[in-house]
Amino acid sequence: MSFNALLRKKAQYVNFALRRLLDAQQINSDLKEALRYTLFAPGKRIRSVLVLWCCELAGGQANHNAEIAAATIEMVHTYSLVHDDLPAMDNDDFRRGQPTCHKAFDEATAILAGDALLTLAFEILAKEIDEPAVAVKLIGQLAQDAGPGGMIAGQMADLKAEKSVGTKEALEYIHINKTAKMFRCAAAMGAICGGAGKKPFNCLCEYGLRIGLGFQIADDILDVSGSREQLGKTAGKDARAAKCTYPAVVGMEKAKELEKKLANEAIAALEPFGKKADTLRQLAAALLERTR
Ligand code: IPE
Ligand code: IPE
Ligand code: MG
Ligand code: MG
Ligand code: MG
Repeated sequence: MSFNALLRKKAQYVNFALRRLLDAQQINSDLKEALRYTLFAPGKRIRSVLVLWCCELAGGQANHNAEIAAATIEMVHTYSLVHDDLPAMDNDDFRRGQPTCHKAFDEATAILAGDALLTLAFEILAKEIDEPAVAVKLIGQLAQDAGPGGMIAGQMADLKAEKSVGTKEALEYIHINKTAKMFRCAAAMGAICGGAGKKPFNCLCEYGLRIGLGFQIADDILDVSGSREQLGKTAGKDARAAKCTYPAVVGMEKAKELEKKLANEAIAALEPFGKKADTLRQLAAALLERTR
């Protein structure tokens, strides 16, 4: 099977899990409609598929816990996008090929839909993971990387850095926190579900962090060079908002070089796994080529 077909198949698997978990919830129907709208729009599912692949690598095969962990990181990621698009943040009206949640519904619904996705993810981890000790580890990891010591810190710094003279240090802080830590989290959650020992766990975390950093550089590059049709979200918005991005601070050529360097570093972190890690190597390479 080609790498892209494999990715699509795994993404479908995540979609089934999300559907099953959401269908089982008793939720106010207006809110549920907003949750479905945002969650089942065509996201790429990279973080959630990464959970499954890291579990396979660490434990030989994906399991029930990895399926739950994958669905919950996708919920938290989706919440981050719904809030990122709000008028008080990036003020975007297009996401995943359709109007943003606050445009399709209203701002209050989008705020609450984000809140619901975030809390629901933790409820599901607490209730659905097979072993309490694994649940506690997963909950701790997700809270750490999505919370005020991770994604939220990055989002705060991203907003504060608008219209300022960006430095490379500030940029790295923003990218590590707002994006790379969620990728590290995905790798860590997969490793936890696969029962990884300390060494493989650390290697997978390093891999996740590196591809995550590269992923946000690619996002910044695509914001400059892509179109709304291709990206499924507004293009050119970073320059308009005077965001602190890699193309803005170091220039396009350097940004592309850095993206390649990060992919190579990610691949180097997989060394101890040998050939078994080929799918993750292909992912690192594919993210360099991505057009959406
Ligand atoms: C968008 O993430 C936000 C960033 C961190 C750049 P994705 O590009 O993974 O968004 P979806 O999930 O595919 O919509
Ligand atoms: C968003 O970064 C990162 C998140 C934590 C959601 P961006 O603001 O660049 O993401 P897009 O371009 O809106 O998807
Ligand atoms: Mg943003
Ligand atoms: Mg944004
Ligand atoms: Mg962006």
